[in-house]
Amino acid sequence: MKVIKLWLVLLFGLSLSVGITQAQNASVSGNNELSIDEKVERLLDKMTLKEKVGQLSLNVGDVINTGPTVNTKPSNKFDDLIRQGRVTGIFNTHGTAYLRRLQKIAVEDSRLKIPLLFGADVIHGFRTVLPIPLAEAASWDMKAVERSSQIAATEATAAGINFNFAPMVDITRDPRWGRIAEGAGEDPYLGSLVAAARVRGFQGDDLTAPNTLAACVKHFAAYGAPHGGREYNTVDMSERMLREIYLPPYKAAVDAGVATMMTSFNELNGIPATGNDFLLNQILRKEWGFQGMVVSDWQSILEMKVHGVGGSDKAVTKMAIEAGTDMDMEANLYRDVLPGLVKNGKVNTEVLDKSVRRVLKLKHKLGLFEDPYKYTNAEREKKDVMSKEHLVGALDIAKRCIVLLKNQNKLLPLKKDIKSLALIGPLAKNKQELNGTWSFFARSNEPVSMLEGIQKKVSKQTKIYVAEGCDFYSDSKAKFAEAINIAKKAEVVVMTLGESAVMNGEAASRTNIGLPGVQLELLKAIHATGKPIVLLLTNGRAMCLSWEDKNIPAILETWTLGTQTGNAIAEVLFGDYNPSGKLPVTFPRNVGQIPIYYNYKHTGRLYKGDYKEHKSRRIYLSKYRDVPNTPLYPFGYGLSYTTFKYGKVMLDKKQMKINETLNLSIQVKNTGKRAGEEVVQLYIRDLIGSVTRPVKELKGFKKIMLKPGESKKVQFQLTKKDFSFYRKDMSFGAEAGQFKIFVGTNSADLKEATFELID
Ligand code: BGC
Repeated sequence: MKVIKLWLVLLFGLSLSVGITQAQNASVSGNNELSIDEKVERLLDKMTLKEKVGQLSLNVGDVINTGPTVNTKPSNKFDDLIRQGRVTGIFNTHGTAYLRRLQKIAVEDSRLKIPLLFGADVIHGFRTVLPIPLAEAASWDMKAVERSSQIAATEATAAGINFNFAPMVDITRDPRWGRIAEGAGEDPYLGSLVAAARVRGFQGDDLTAPNTLAACVKHFAAYGAPHGGREYNTVDMSERMLREIYLPPYKAAVDAGVATMMTSFNELNGIPATGNDFLLNQILRKEWGFQGMVVSDWQSILEMKVHGVGGSDKAVTKMAIEAGTDMDMEANLYRDVLPGLVKNGKVNTEVLDKSVRRVLKLKHKLGLFEDPYKYTNAEREKKDVMSKEHLVGALDIAKRCIVLLKNQNKLLPLKKDIKSLALIGPLAKNKQELNGTWSFFARSNEPVSMLEGIQKKVSKQTKIYVAEGCDFYSDSKAKFAEAINIAKKAEVVVMTLGESAVMNGEAASRTNIGLPGVQLELLKAIHATGKPIVLLLTNGRAMCLSWEDKNIPAILETWTLGTQTGNAIAEVLFGDYNPSGKLPVTFPRNVGQIPIYYNYKHTGRLYKGDYKEHKSRRIYLSKYRDVPNTPLYPFGYGLSYTTFKYGKVMLDKKQMKINETLNLSIQVKNTGKRAGEEVVQLYIRDLIGSVTRPVKELKGFKKIMLKPGESKKVQFQLTKKDFSFYRKDMSFGAEAGQFKIFVGTNSADLKEATFELID
């Protein structure tokens, strides 16, 4: 007892407070001469079994609810657990005063005074809401993506959060799946760059800094491939597809130094991810060398029973910890069941200790032992949350995400002195929906509405008529007449249609991915007036827009842009910003084409002709009878208010040894009258391999700015890594042979050259 007391005095010294001194810092964190590993070992030696499993148990806090366990008000229900050292942290709650109170209990009243983690889903901004991740991927601008995550981290840490359940990097080829909104789309290369940029943005290069937090890459693994696009559904895929398409972004996050990782809800090839030894122990830890901490998803340890493995609390607990899931989110099984398993020798103490070490190490890396209150600084909360600087940053990022899908007869940009404009649709004045999915920390009245954005841009003389027309959900057409009426009075109609915030994100799969409710009917009714229409789409997935594409002259994909929505859209509508976004996902013609993606395989019978040829007779080729194989809008697609002309793909050699570097270049010219940015995209195709290869794979891109008439030589380099893949024996490497190199404006409009890789 005496020893413990003495140790406590030495280790934690005086009480912790905001104005903690250097000397006090040294005493609370133990001997500063010691390495983190040594400090962790010393602490581990002192811990009881209960305290150890406490460090592995994470619980949902009050106020925000993102799963089946509901809490409605801040409460003191965690006080005892914290005091007893039986909880490692609280998630999805915020506010410096409340979190400070909880932290104080942990570091003053618990036996070992281990500080708490405060987790949250800060997916696209805290109170300054940034564009949804899918939108940001459409910017193809990694500086903007990184800056966005920095803004989010600065605000979240100011409000007490030190552990962020982001980035979500799940690749998906299925826009029915609602969580497509939270990721970077369908491509492993783009997805990997975005994953790394987000980790850099959240974590910076110093995890102990007060404005950085531990990122958590999720959901490991392949959560984005549920059968039928239905949320939480079964995933079954070959190891080749897993490694080539789905795993690269998680790996990129690990390589970027991500501190933590979250398992996924789905089973993969028969084994739920949370108890999946192959994923966690083999791939993540052994192959990739990940040293950080792995947390389960919400009750996913418990849900393994429902999947139909294990059969008991004890069995799934053992499966999860032995597979490498260190922390239990909200299932409470590590707290309640794990001690018994360890005592009875069913789970080895070393397995438990490994996980505890990882958690303690994380807390050390965040600097929580030195200053447990550094993230709960009320003054900083006031200053940083919704700061002017963040709002300026959010606008800059938001406008870069907008994709111009169609612009017939240069209807866009509109003139600021336009005489009259009708703004119609459920999003015309709405603010709340613009925050989008995962925006618990946002205020519903803070986004700039589309009306407000437009009002600020147009001349004083411009008359703006506004009508809702319909809502997202009901079948009522009662408000159509008013909308038609104002459309008739206006020079141009701007339609604001799309999805509400709950229509994408978690638990928001849809089988019909056209405009919900009667919005398409409203659009058709307005179209019948004969007025020129600009369609502004707000949504969190690729949508089916065949009628819209055929009939509406100008379409802007604005995704869901957050706080600065109205301002960003107005900049593009009126030409202050020339749109430069490119689709990070393929837009299908109809749901029946899903999964549809640009990097498909050739098959033995690929069909490239006119699908209509098929009408009255049978053609034994890989095609549909009713629509072409091609998508409505391909991956990488997006127009500009100017035009770009691509020259020839120039290679510095026609043949290259596997360890050499291929230098290639292409001349790109702005042939229009406005300055504009272009994303120059580079794809390759390996024509013959020991296994079949996709018809195209993105291997590079450059976003360049060109003045009117200006021409630039855009250069790329390709090395062995770019030509490598999982060969027949699953080893990773390049094979000699013929390749095609493509460069161009989107995945379907490319200049090509051929070259040969030799041994
Ligand atoms: C989601 C996770 C999220 C967690 C905590 C789960 O339902 O799948 O992405 O981080 O809830 O809110």
